[in-house]
Amino acid sequence: MTVFRSAFLVVILCVIAFTTPSYASVENFVPLPLVAPEPKDNPSTPEKISLGKQLFFDARLSIDGTVSCNSCHDVQGNGTDSRATSIGVKGQLGDRSAPSVWNAAFLSAQMWDGRFPSLEEQAKGPILNPIEMAMPHPDAAVERIASIPGYVSQFTKVFGGDKPVTYDNIARAIAAYERTLITPNSRFDQYLLGNTAALTRQELNGMEAFESLGCVRCHRGPAMAGPLLVTGEVFLQWFPAFPNHYIDKYKLVDDLGYNNGKDNELKVRRGKWRVPSLRNIANTAPYFHNGSVKTLNKAIRVMARSQLNRELSDYEADILEAFLKSLTGEYSIQATPILPPDADTLASK
Ligand code: HEC
Ligand code: HEC
Repeated sequence: MTVFRSAFLVVILCVIAFTTPSYASVENFVPLPLVAPEPKDNPSTPEKISLGKQLFFDARLSIDGTVSCNSCHDVQGNGTDSRATSIGVKGQLGDRSAPSVWNAAFLSAQMWDGRFPSLEEQAKGPILNPIEMAMPHPDAAVERIASIPGYVSQFTKVFGGDKPVTYDNIARAIAAYERTLITPNSRFDQYLLGNTAALTRQELNGMEAFESLGCVRCHRGPAMAGPLLVTGEVFLQWFPAFPNHYIDKYKLVDDLGYNNGKDNELKVRRGKWRVPSLRNIANTAPYFHNGSVKTLNKAIRVMARSQLNRELSDYEADILEAFLKSLTGEYSIQATPILPPDADTLASK
């Protein structure tokens, strides 16, 4: 009887082992949610999202009216400017690469060094950044927007109160719009949701290597950006963690992260970087915080060498690349919004 029982148990275990998808371990790989989490003090409404989209596309939020959020984060494309580092007002060149705004809503901390806790706080940065949009003061941005009648009526409807156009509300509307920038239904997601035919054998091998080599130690969860953390908490890691021959070639330690390692209080963050999302990674070359690496295949090799102390074979790099390409989701169409005209344009009509 006992022999019969154990044999039965073995059969059952084999059935379980052979029918469960072998690679997708539950905590590491999670499908991208269809809706992004939102903070209690900034609930989304269709009107707020529409207002935020207009602001995102509006170059009047920059000092000379030439640069909008969309200039560096093209949402009609991959959500970046596809440059190594970005160009702001008066042709000024920044020193970091623009990450995509698609799926940024799933990150618990914003920026390469994770210095902003939320999309709301992040949106207040570039408008005042002297080499990005270069407004001298939050009030200057508020004044500019409050001088546009079509905006005042929308802010009144969305936020209410005597003075609805505030710097915080500008940021709130933009953040609400950004929360709609989600790219679901990648083949990777289809696979995780049960369509085992969605990935090729090569991609599945890549997925397995991604786990067995240890990439998942850092890149996991819905955005492939680390453990699920509360908003504001940042998953920081040394980069590069191991000395290697790519460091000089790609200038990987010229920038040391938060405030370039100079801030006394946050010196603990020196040399550490937030683990970025790998969603749509095939579309967002060039790679790393300084945009120094042009191809995904090379970025994968740099990662393995820098974070896992491992020189990849061509085969390993290729299957990992194939797997990462399956993380490309569907971008919803972002029609160019019609922006409310300036007051003097209206007056001259
Ligand atoms: C001149 C180019 C430029 C402009 C204009 C610009 N950004 Fe960025 N953006 C960047 C760069 C570069 C970074 C990364 C900087 C860093 O990490 O230090 C970034 C980072 C971000 C991030 C963080 C994404 C992530 O993965 O951490 C978000 C969100 C974002 N920008 C939204 C906006 C919004 C909203 C606006 C308009 C208010 C805007 N950006 C204007 C270049 C720009
Ligand atoms: C110990 C943590 C850790 C491990 C392990 C790790 N990564 Fe990363 N990964 C990071 C960090 C941190 C960055 C951001 C580096 C920077 O600031 O430029 C990054 C960046 C990347 C990028 C570039 C992202 C972009 O938008 O430019 C790719 C691609 C990538 N990793 C793939 C992998 C692959 C494939 C593996 C396994 C071979 C791996 N990573 C292992 C932490 C890790």
